[in-house]
Amino acid sequence: MADSPRANGNLLIADDLKKTYGSGEAATHALRGVSFELAEGEFASIVGQSGSGKSTLLNLLGLLDKPTSGHVRYRGTDTESLRKSKRSELRNELIGFVFQFHYLLPEFSVFENVAMPALIAGSLPAGMIRSRAEQTLGLLGLAGLESKNANALSGGQKQRVAIARALMNRPALVLADEPTGNLDTANTDLVYDLFRKVSAETGTAFVIVTHDRSVAQRTDRILEVLDGELVADERNRYLKRVV
Ligand SMILES: Nc1ncnc2c1ncn2[C@@H]1O[C@H](COP(=O)(O)OP(=O)(O)OP(=O)(O)O)[C@@H](O)[C@H]1O
Ligand SMILES: [Mg+2]
Repeated sequence: MADSPRANGNLLIADDLKKTYGSGEAATHALRGVSFELAEGEFASIVGQSGSGKSTLLNLLGLLDKPTSGHVRYRGTDTESLRKSKRSELRNELIGFVFQFHYLLPEFSVFENVAMPALIAGSLPAGMIRSRAEQTLGLLGLAGLESKNANALSGGQKQRVAIARALMNRPALVLADEPTGNLDTANTDLVYDLFRKVSAETGTAFVIVTHDRSVAQRTDRILEVLDGELVADERNRYLKRVV
């Protein structure tokens, strides 16, 4: 915790991240030393073939798993030195997750799905949770659907509810693993437009894992992973800007 917060404007520093699953003959070297920096508000993607280590990397960045060696630093704090409860606190405070499958609670309303994690955490007054949920659902074009059951929504709407849920605690960073892997082209476009809009309006950084290059072309920076190594880190010169 020694370094000063927000040192040199980096939100996140990944420092020589290695991850090995198993040991001996059966060992899989999923990450072999990945390093990069992410600025506050950056809109980046991670591409790479199946099995190249993308999800492993995202799990480490999201403090869901620990590296075999290396460090993940948020705003100058080395998360490896933190106790488990402090890591969870930092994760809840800074990071929102969006997965390929939305994991909504089907028997609950849109509002309940979005508000429930915040209500359970008890970190905000209920009135603020309600207004924030409504504001976030509005941002994602879901106003008016608050009382609808989650299982009555289309696939694209469900994914937008999951995104709203990830934004409830106003994270500094959204980590998304194949967030549109299950959606058709029209809904994929919509989700990326919304990510952009959220990023522009709230300053939230995004790291989006995809194996689809055309999706990555919509982001400002493309990190490419191959066999557990970062083999390219490009500023996107061919950006298809939609907002
Ligand atoms: N929990 C685990 N235990 C053992 N091996 C694992 C585990 N998770 C991932 N691996 C292995 O680590 C390597 C990287 O996997 P990872 O899931 O990070 O790839 P990926 O790039 O996300 O692939 P995909 O595009 O298919 O999702 C693979 O060889 C995988 O089999
Ligand atoms: Mg994966």
